[in-house]
Amino acid sequence: MELLEAMNVIENQSWLEAPSETLAGAVSKVLTRPTGGPTKLDDFLNGVWFGHPLHPMLTDIPIGAWTVTLAMDGIETLTGRAERNTGADIALGAGILGAVASAMTGAAQWQYTIGRQRRLGLSHALLNVAALGLYSASLVYRLNGKRGAGKLTALIGYGFMAVGAYIGGDLAYGQRLGVTHIPEQEIPEDWQPTLADDELREGDLQRVTIADVPVLLVRQQGHIYALADTCAHLGGPLSEGTLGECSVTCPWHGSRFRLSDGAILNGPATFPQPIYETRVRDGKIEVRPSSPHPQV
Ligand code: FES
Repeated sequence: MELLEAMNVIENQSWLEAPSETLAGAVSKVLTRPTGGPTKLDDFLNGVWFGHPLHPMLTDIPIGAWTVTLAMDGIETLTGRAERNTGADIALGAGILGAVASAMTGAAQWQYTIGRQRRLGLSHALLNVAALGLYSASLVYRLNGKRGAGKLTALIGYGFMAVGAYIGGDLAYGQRLGVTHIPEQEIPEDWQPTLADDELREGDLQRVTIADVPVLLVRQQGHIYALADTCAHLGGPLSEGTLGECSVTCPWHGSRFRLSDGAILNGPATFPQPIYETRVRDGKIEVRPSSPHPQV
């Protein structure tokens, strides 16, 4: 069976739906406020403070550490020199710590998914939890001097981790989980007319489309702001969100962006919203790219 076909089979496992919903609900209960919106812990685990999702970085720790264990176990088996192989056990332990941190950040990211992303995410998590369990068992075997059993359980764990990592890659690159959802298209460089000035009232959130790019227009305290309407987190429509003092909150998962520069005031978004310059000419609100362009 080709890998792509295998992914489709996993994605279409409808029995994963119920446990996915239950588990995501439990994670959200811990990481989001009862009144809605993420807690500080949620922002921390999602990497809002870092300006980048934490999960993909942390997954490299168990993958790298357990690959070292695999290589050193292989050398030990081939040479029969177990006494010099504490490095394999240390790498294994480091991988376990990395896997726990990776699981926590992954769960924080995954709670916001729906449908296929959620089912794939659960499969990814189950495989990695199985790998973590096998590596933990391997460490116990090693500490008790049962190196043969320790090496075998680690080898099986590596297989689980490898398949889990493959699915994780598909979640990021195929399903766009953890990447910015801001449209790739830019609006034209020159001023673009949008609404008539009197069509945008104080406190309104209005969506306009410029060269196929959805743009949010807001008038607050007499100033007209323009931001990309598609939320960087998972693509929610900011124009259907809530206007606060100098900020707009996404209706899907509560990311809050500053109107003046698109900066993140709270997550789970980890990428800022692009902003545009505005002016009023001949009774029309005009918009053009902000200069310099925000880093996204
Ligand atoms: S789509 Fe998740 S916060 Fe906007």
